Amino acid sequence: MCGIVGYVGEQSAVDVVVAGLRRLEYRGYDSAGVAILDGTTLQVERKAGKLANLDEVLANRSLPGTLGIGHTRWATHGPPNDANAHPHVDCAGAVAVVHNGTIENFEELVAGLGERGHARRSDTDTEAVAHLVEECYDGDLAAAVRTVCKQLEGSFVLVVAHRDEPGLIVAARRNLPLVIGLGDGENFVGSDVTAFIAHTRTARAVEQDQVVEVRRTGVQVTDLDGVVVEGETYHVDWDTDAAEKGGYEFFMLKEIQEQPDAVRDTLGGRLTPEGLLHLDELAMSDQDIRGIDQVVIIACGSSYHSGLVGKYAIERWCRLPVHVEMASEFRYRDPVVGRSTLVIAISQSGETADTLEALRHAREQRAWVLAVTNTIGSTISRESDAALYTRAGPEVAVASTKAVMAQLAAMYVVGLYLAQVRGTRDADEVRAHMHDLQEIPDLITELIGRMEPVRELARSLKDAQRVLFLGRHVGYPMALEGALKLKELAYISAEGFPAGEIKHGPIALIEQGTPVVILAPRHALQAKLINNIQEVRARGARTIVVATDGDDSVLPYADDVIWIPDTKSLLTPLLTIVPMQVLSAEVAAARGLDVDQPRNLAKSVTVE
Ligand code: G6P
Repeated sequence: MCGIVGYVGEQSAVDVVVAGLRRLEYRGYDSAGVAILDGTTLQVERKAGKLANLDEVLANRSLPGTLGIGHTRWATHGPPNDANAHPHVDCAGAVAVVHNGTIENFEELVAGLGERGHARRSDTDTEAVAHLVEECYDGDLAAAVRTVCKQLEGSFVLVVAHRDEPGLIVAARRNLPLVIGLGDGENFVGSDVTAFIAHTRTARAVEQDQVVEVRRTGVQVTDLDGVVVEGETYHVDWDTDAAEKGGYEFFMLKEIQEQPDAVRDTLGGRLTPEGLLHLDELAMSDQDIRGIDQVVIIACGSSYHSGLVGKYAIERWCRLPVHVEMASEFRYRDPVVGRSTLVIAISQSGETADTLEALRHAREQRAWVLAVTNTIGSTISRESDAALYTRAGPEVAVASTKAVMAQLAAMYVVGLYLAQVRGTRDADEVRAHMHDLQEIPDLITELIGRMEPVRELARSLKDAQRVLFLGRHVGYPMALEGALKLKELAYISAEGFPAGEIKHGPIALIEQGTPVVILAPRHALQAKLINNIQEVRARGARTIVVATDGDDSVLPYADDVIWIPDTKSLLTPLLTIVPMQVLSAEVAAARGLDVDQPRNLAKSVTVE
């Protein structure tokens, strides 16, 4: 969480840094701030609340200078007020620091600083770093930052500027993401590449415990002892426009529209001329794939729901046991994984701390870890044995849509590939399933084109106190996803249940008019679902049924119907998810809420 940007070049630093922060605001929006160095004048502006509040402050200020650092905060230490907003400065106002992460020994550090006469002006752990740099600085900022990093415990990305070093910013990293952007006569650092892709597509990831000196003319990376380390650059092919709203009121609405391409691009180029799947990214020999005896999927939030769908597909096609684990719980219960376990870590950002720690644990147990992530060069992709990239492009709205859609597509591909190699499905069947998958992008386009009734429905749900979501089989994970989206965006109490489970407790929640969304696309279990619809309706529920085009069997029991195109039942999550997304976004909008930046949340959750 927290987004950081640093810039040294020839352009107006405040403009470049604030534009970078706008792209990183998904990482936290409790406060924002910048420090701009002009010659030896260091000026800091910061403001609680969203970046728009800082914009207002900056509109009345002139901040000349071509070197700057910036921060957008997700609060951990101290409430989200002006005093706790970054950048933080030392006693003399000579050093400015922005920080992402948590310094675990900060109380001890602060106590020592207090004894040595430093006055504390915020509740943050970050301020300690500014004072420590002040103490260690003797004309070499990079050396001072290296010395300070050795004293810090926990996780951090730091970016530091000093008024006595007009052409330099120094950044450092432990456990959290930091990327360098290499431009022409200008260089950047950022929490991710979106911070600078408007300026350069050449990036380099910073590794653990490295310190970066960024100047207009070049970048040097060292370890904490000052030894220079080389690294590889990579090209970022994300489309800059993809990180802009492009006429939509919210990023989420735009990202929903981009889902057909997310699926198409994720499926693209997977078939050999013989019509067989290839998945070189898995980097496992056929023999090792045949030796897998279980699959464990670890993920958080919406990515966890993609993992649940993956379980149904892999078990069906491969006859392998699949366990799906919330990453935050995984390593604390001594899970049974080993050499013949394939662990799949699903993460849009590739930076989620819980998922990262879970995969580290799995690797310690010698499992093979495949990352399924949307972010090239992310920590999760680099720390896994192999990475399969979903190709959804940059996702900005905090609530994940197109990235989850691409994860679903990726899970079907992984399932089919394992089945092909293990011989549990023959080539014809693999081809047939791929054919069905390849039809999905057009079906999503068609479905998105007929969402007006869902928007109307959303307006009618705007004052609901509680909404339940029910599904069976692959409809169950999508019921969970529908409920998660509604609660995180519209702040309405929402729960998803397996439809068969409702009679064991949740049915007690139903009162006259309680909206219940039932995912009931044409399916082998549909007769049972119709029973469940009747059960809740008999208790007064308003039944909102997601059904397959032309399926009249649900009509007698549905107060509202959301129609979706027909596809194979195992693939229905790729369609049922769309009205769930639109419904939650539109209910939130009808309630006057910020669809892209729901309260208390952040997109990339880098704390455990
Ligand atoms: C946050 C986001 C969710 C996301 C989850 C996992 O909670 O708000 O949309 O599903 O993190 O993130 P990841 O990047 O690991 O997929």
